[in-house]
Amino acid sequence: VKAAVVGATGYAGQELCGLLRGHPALDLALPMRGRAEAPPSEGVLALDTDRFGEVDVVFLCTPHGAAAPLARLALDAGAKVVDVSADFRLKDPAVYEATYGAPHPAPDLLDAAVYGLTEHARSQVSGARLIANPGCYPTSVLLGLLPVLEAQLVERGTPIIADCKSGVSGAGVAPTATTHYGNVAGNFSAYKVGQHRHTPEIHQAAGTEQVVFVPHLLPCFRGILATLYLTPILGVGAGQVREALAECYAEEPFVTVRSDRMPNLHDVDLTNQCHLGVAEAYGQVVIVSTIDNLQKGAAGQAVQNANLALGLEEGLGLG
Ligand SMILES: NC(=O)c1ccc[n+]([C@@H]2O[C@H](COP(=O)([O-])OP(=O)(O)OC[C@H]3O[C@@H](n4cnc5c(N)ncnc54)[C@H](OP(=O)(O)O)[C@@H]3O)[C@@H](O)[C@H]2O)c1
Repeated sequence: VKAAVVGATGYAGQELCGLLRGHPALDLALPMRGRAEAPPSEGVLALDTDRFGEVDVVFLCTPHGAAAPLARLALDAGAKVVDVSADFRLKDPAVYEATYGAPHPAPDLLDAAVYGLTEHARSQVSGARLIANPGCYPTSVLLGLLPVLEAQLVERGTPIIADCKSGVSGAGVAPTATTHYGNVAGNFSAYKVGQHRHTPEIHQAAGTEQVVFVPHLLPCFRGILATLYLTPILGVGAGQVREALAECYAEEPFVTVRSDRMPNLHDVDLTNQCHLGVAEAYGQVVIVSTIDNLQKGAAGQAVQNANLALGLEEGLGLG
């Protein structure tokens, strides 16, 4: 089974190429640059969309906006597509335009796209041709929150605070003033409060606008830790919330509900794991969720989704 990775020079693309090189059934046939004008570089071919017909799956690791036209070419060539960018995550093109500042590049493909939060979308992903791989922050928030919302344990109308922190690799390979060493080392800051593009994605997937998402930049390279604060319905505490999570993920190889202590970034570093912990504080239930943003938040979940869509064992190549 053959794969192409477009945007193989970026952080998500490099991580994906690394995973595919160790994958027993998916062959990294075409690692490609993302921009048409970019020349081949060591181990990475120039973009050649005419070759999409040679592979079974095309992973798109380009910026949003650039991915959708490539997805169309790959689908037309008969390949399945796992889009790691944001192009197919939001169902409503008007919300996409408001969030990303440009009209949706392929609104006619939105109906075919499946939002691939794997543990919560297994049957849809299995039959999908086009998979929208979730954003890194949304993955960390939704894995901790969805089972609790589904069990109706959260008091309606109360804010659910999603206090999230990410390493700098979440911002991509191109250096910026915000992410350069002098600004990040020994520092810690909140950013894009109330304006981050992952907010509508979280609201759409959670089915509620109760979530107040605040991102922070950590002085480390990889990892996300999300601390979720929620008001439970009367009579419910951390015990029932933990039970809902444990029941939902009992059979899941990539989600662990810890009972020993709260999870931290090192627990999930370089793995496709999400670790969850639950506690109670002053009437609030606190859920801590940790993932590696480049693995479960991007390349790892992309491989998990591709395995499912291609009829392979879901965990292949993921350690
Ligand atoms: N980093 C994360 O933690 C993470 C997590 C989840 C999802 N994502 C999403 O995954 C995608 C890639 O993220 P990343 O962090 O890997 O970004 P990145 O490090 O900036 O890499 C993106 C790659 O896309 C190519 N590219 C740049 N501009 C392009 C354009 N206009 N058209 C086509 N290709 C272009 C570049 O490769 P060439 O130089 O070869 O053109 C670049 O290496 C983004 O959409 C991002 O939102 C990232």
